[in-house]
Amino acid sequence: MIKNIAVIRGDGIGPEITAQAIRVLDRIAELYGHTFNYTEVDMGGCAIDKYGDPLPESELEKCLASDSVLLGAVGGEKWNNVEGDKRPEKGLLRLRAGMGVYSNNRPAKIWKQLSEASPLKKEIVDKGIDFIIVRELIGGIYFGEHKTEGNTAIDVLRYSEAEIERIGRIGFETARKRNKKLCSVEKSNVLDSSRLWKKVMHRLAEEYSDVELSDMLVDNCAMQIVKNPSQFDVIVTENMFGDILSDEASMITGSIGMIPSSSLGATDCGLYEPIHGSAPDIAGKDIANPVGTILSAAMMLRFSFNMPKEADAIEAAVSAYLDAGYRTADIMSEGMTQIGCRQCGDIIVSCLK
Ligand code: IPM
Ligand code: MG
Repeated sequence: MIKNIAVIRGDGIGPEITAQAIRVLDRIAELYGHTFNYTEVDMGGCAIDKYGDPLPESELEKCLASDSVLLGAVGGEKWNNVEGDKRPEKGLLRLRAGMGVYSNNRPAKIWKQLSEASPLKKEIVDKGIDFIIVRELIGGIYFGEHKTEGNTAIDVLRYSEAEIERIGRIGFETARKRNKKLCSVEKSNVLDSSRLWKKVMHRLAEEYSDVELSDMLVDNCAMQIVKNPSQFDVIVTENMFGDILSDEASMITGSIGMIPSSSLGATDCGLYEPIHGSAPDIAGKDIANPVGTILSAAMMLRFSFNMPKEADAIEAAVSAYLDAGYRTADIMSEGMTQIGCRQCGDIIVSCLK
């Protein structure tokens, strides 16, 4: 198959980690007889420097014309004082909205080789951590009106039934393919938007009678994720709650550097990115963990290109790499061999079959 991939290397560690994911994709292309063409797209701080805009229309167009988008990370201190609408993150938000990718899927799964890296107690980890956060990605407070008037700042949180329903369906469908347990997370004791959220989820539940739906308040969910993570199968939640909970969920698996994500909308053209940021403090030092990006590339093959064998091969190669005792700095533990970003790519490429 021939696939055109838009590549956004971005800022900070973005270029280093993306380079390793591309090496993995190139090896997959060789092994399985595919052609992957890459189109470079500028987004984030580097685009601000070049065009004065974190995502010029022409760059968004390249993404929309591709079969899928692979993204490293954007942002950094250098652009912290840029006004709200021109910040690097705004490029990412415009990209997500422009692609219409309303459904963000963030797995929280502990690799057996890394159970020691989890900050949780062994007896909690041993019960198993394997759940998915389905996060609504192009609505809510991220996309409401933002303004500052004198000493007062306003951010609007708005959800329509239709927006809730389409992400709710993804939550139910995801649970249906797994252990059929869906936990809807909201703050219905305080927010109108959450009461609407809950109502829509329960209406949908009638159509998905094979899936067991439960409700949880977001503050309680934050606690339950560290207290008893094995209770979760699929969590569905709104944009900002999903942002916060997915960082928490990633940390209990050992490192945020290991977690990939997929974002999809109505078409097969998806956006694939690790869930971590651009980590400017370690940029250019060849110590970043590229696995989150490499596994994001695997998700691209699985969900957008219908290449499950190839995706399995990447995941197996990551597992073999961990089995061999190599660790990047973020997941380093006693007795393991510490390696850098590029070496990590070397080893995973060599493990591909
Ligand atoms: C994420 C990030 C982004 C978000 C930022 C960089 C805008 O934290 O993907 O989780 O808040 O969605
Ligand atoms: Mg986040």
